Amino acid sequence: MDKLIIQGGAPLSGEIRVSGAKNAALALMCAGLLTSEELTLSNVPHLRDVSTMLRLLAQMGVEVSLDDRLGLSLRAERLSDPLAPYDLVKTMRASILVLGPLLARCGEARVSLPGGCAIGARPVDLHIKGLEALGAEISVEQGYISAKAKRLKAARILMDLVTVTGTENLMMAACLAAGTTTLENAAREPEVVDLAHCLSAMGARISGAGTDTITIEGVKRLHGATHRIMADRIETGTFLAAAAATGGRVTLRGTDPGTLEAVLEKLREAGAELQTGCETISLAMPRRPKAVNVRTAPYPAFPTDMQAQLMALDAVAEGTASITETIFENRFMHALEMQRLGADIEISGNTAIVRGVPKLQGATVMATDLRASASLVIAGLVAEGETRVDRIYHLDRGYECIEEKLAQLGARIKRVH
Ligand code: UD1
Repeated sequence: MDKLIIQGGAPLSGEIRVSGAKNAALALMCAGLLTSEELTLSNVPHLRDVSTMLRLLAQMGVEVSLDDRLGLSLRAERLSDPLAPYDLVKTMRASILVLGPLLARCGEARVSLPGGCAIGARPVDLHIKGLEALGAEISVEQGYISAKAKRLKAARILMDLVTVTGTENLMMAACLAAGTTTLENAAREPEVVDLAHCLSAMGARISGAGTDTITIEGVKRLHGATHRIMADRIETGTFLAAAAATGGRVTLRGTDPGTLEAVLEKLREAGAELQTGCETISLAMPRRPKAVNVRTAPYPAFPTDMQAQLMALDAVAEGTASITETIFENRFMHALEMQRLGADIEISGNTAIVRGVPKLQGATVMATDLRASASLVIAGLVAEGETRVDRIYHLDRGYECIEEKLAQLGARIKRVH
């Protein structure tokens, strides 16, 4: 198994380019199931989750072609098998995103239940409830969701909780339903908006994406389109947090500052000097960071996917911070590993109290999930001496060439097999 070895203590400095957004890419690839024509995506990130989704789509009969310039073409002319099997779904929960499009396009689908994951139970009841409201007959047997519907019918769907993939699944299904669907209490995440743009380019009639009420006027069929995947706001935030924690000075290109205002605000509060352009963000951290309190919540509030990285920053900040996680119930596993590096963190329920220490010391730590791994890399970059991060396959799910990009910023980091 690969690990990362980091010699900490060097401030990050220089420029890198941000990749296309993982979470947007996964949903957009599933949108390819909604048409028999070709969907071409550009700015596709080279990630393990993207490869897993490609395998899943290819297994259903989607013709896939990748070029060497981050371009991907999908053609779902004939779907031979509308099935998402357990062995693929268990490695990537986002596989649930095939359910809505398959049902809308083929009239049936069988998708394995994703089950639990390292950060909590993460049920999919709202996906199921919403599709039932659209007229699907759904049964859950032997670990599989089986769904059937001749043609989906529009409905008014009020979601109990804000769910990102739930909103995306229902928005995709409703594109081919008869009549006009409204999704209320919809997720407002930029990835939902990116998906809506692509679906509109495919002929869908969607309004309100980016607000909590999305209206979808169903059409009989969608056609092919070309779409550029938005920049990854979480990758952007991760590199900014790393630069801030190490007292560095970096410029990120190919990103969209408008999609991470809550994160930029926290970095400013911590003492970072930020400059934003249309597609760039520059950060300089001239002093030791100040502790900042964080409370995660759906967009536009502070993202749960950046909670661990901010904890790494708070771990070496001046003062005491409180970090409250409101989205997932078990998302503090990185705190225990950070303690191995000398961080002073106390957990009580869904709140972590982080008392900043002047220095962390290198140690061996283990990554437990994607964003937890990123936070441990940040902590390792700050720590004195050598840090080994084990089980980095989690990182490869969601960060494109992370060690190469960090090395480009002057980090002393290498991957060993
Ligand atoms: C997506 C993101 C993930 C991010 C999360 C929250 C993708 C591929 N993944 O995950 O990176 O951390 O949004 O921003 O886009 N819930 C239910 N029932 C449901 C669905 C969700 O109870 O049917 C709960 C979840 O357990 C969680 C909350 O709703 O507590 C939000 O989860 P959700 O937004 O659905 O997360 P994902 O879409 O899985």
